[in-house]
Amino acid sequence: MILNYNSFFYLFILIIILIFFIIKIYSQVFKFIKQEFYIYRLNNLLRNNYKNNCYIYFLLGVVYLDKACLKQALDFFIKSSNSYKDNAGVSLIQIYNSIGYVYMHIEEYNLAIKFFEKCIAIQPNYIISINNLAKVYEKINNIKKAIDLYQLVLSYDNQNKTAIDRLNKLLANKNLNRIK
Ligand SMILES: *[C@@H]1O[C@H](CO)[C@@H](O)[C@H](O)[C@H]1NC(C)=O
Repeated sequence: MILNYNSFFYLFILIIILIFFIIKIYSQVFKFIKQEFYIYRLNNLLRNNYKNNCYIYFLLGVVYLDKACLKQALDFFIKSSNSYKDNAGVSLIQIYNSIGYVYMHIEEYNLAIKFFEKCIAIQPNYIISINNLAKVYEKINNIKKAIDLYQLVLSYDNQNKTAIDRLNKLLANKNLNRIK
């Protein structure tokens, strides 16, 4: 076999690709181990009757959400809201917003709406939940409601990029449909 300039070049590319995948697999494995260890520690706290279960449940929900285990994440967020008390380290709004977020992703849109509305009832200018609620209305094709909500976000924060981008897109589509 003659190793010319070209074969070195291909070898080089191959090694780069290999290194890329090794790093990717390594970081996935590392992330997985970190998550499992975190879950193990949180479960230990629960077992040892740690006082603040609300917060532990919430953190477990966040880890499972990160692992894309939506069902488990939902269970823990609901447990968290059921054991909520003042100074839990997490606000009821954050918990409700997380519950709504999971419901949105499992396409339980009515429940998602219910929970985002709970957040907005607690704090009317909580733009994270308003944006999320708007997204749900987009998904169920209630474009008018979605537009109103994005405009509401902009009335609180006229720089919010999420609302600006979505609103522009919806208005552009609306105009397009009018022309058609
Ligand atoms: C806009 O609102 C979202 C919440 O929906 C928030 O995550 C984001 O940081 C805000 N962006 C800006 C630019 O304020």
